[in-house]
Amino acid sequence: MSNNKELIVRHKLIDRLCHWTIVFVGLVTFLTGFSFFFPSFQWMSGIVGTPQLAKIMHPFFGLVMVALLAVMLMRYYSHNKWNKYDLPWMKAVVWVLLQKEENIPPVGHYNPGQKMLFRSFVIFVIAFIVTGIMMWQPYFAPMFSAETVNWATLIHSACGILMLIALVVHVWMACWIEGSITGMLYGKVSKAWARKHHPMMLEEDHKDK
Ligand code: HEM
Repeated sequence: MSNNKELIVRHKLIDRLCHWTIVFVGLVTFLTGFSFFFPSFQWMSGIVGTPQLAKIMHPFFGLVMVALLAVMLMRYYSHNKWNKYDLPWMKAVVWVLLQKEENIPPVGHYNPGQKMLFRSFVIFVIAFIVTGIMMWQPYFAPMFSAETVNWATLIHSACGILMLIALVVHVWMACWIEGSITGMLYGKVSKAWARKHHPMMLEEDHKDK
């Protein structure tokens, strides 16, 4: 019988470095971005110094954030494909919320909630890159009409708010599943953790090799 305390790799070093760099760079991007929304939000630009610096730095930090996120999404793509375990889990989502573990069907490396968030991140990356470039003064914005830039600004801002909501859910899920953040910090989880939260992960990973 295998030892339940035995540790297995869930996140490689490169992915963890990528993830926590995204968190740092993303914090600066979000604070500077939200500081443009209302004059009363201007204090958020203090993270880079002044509102003028925030205007200059926001697109560069944003570019690094989406580039790293795109790399991470590509690396995690195979674990986020829909599979046969997802529909039964979704049908039992009430039991997931009520934490009635004995009624929850097994899932693989990621559960459908995580897979949906993953897809939302893909949409945000594409939307931020496209609209962000169109709005970028003084480099690219002059190439587009004022109306096009206005639409790009609207979509860019709406995506900022929607992504913030998605991230609140992401962090809430990470805090809710004990051992999940430790996994993203140190890379390893115990076999017992995997059996409890992602039972089919052990089989999926074995199949991948
Ligand atoms: C303090 C903030 C954050 C915390 C505590 C956190 C925590 C975590 C944890 C624990 C995991 C691993 C989940 C698991 O093993 O099942 C994870 C995965 C991930 N995180 Fe975060 N995260 C944070 C912010 C972010 C941000 C800002 C982004 C991107 C904008 C992000 C994108 C991702 C992605 C793409 C994955 C892989 C999930 C998948 O493939 O479905 N995270 N995060």
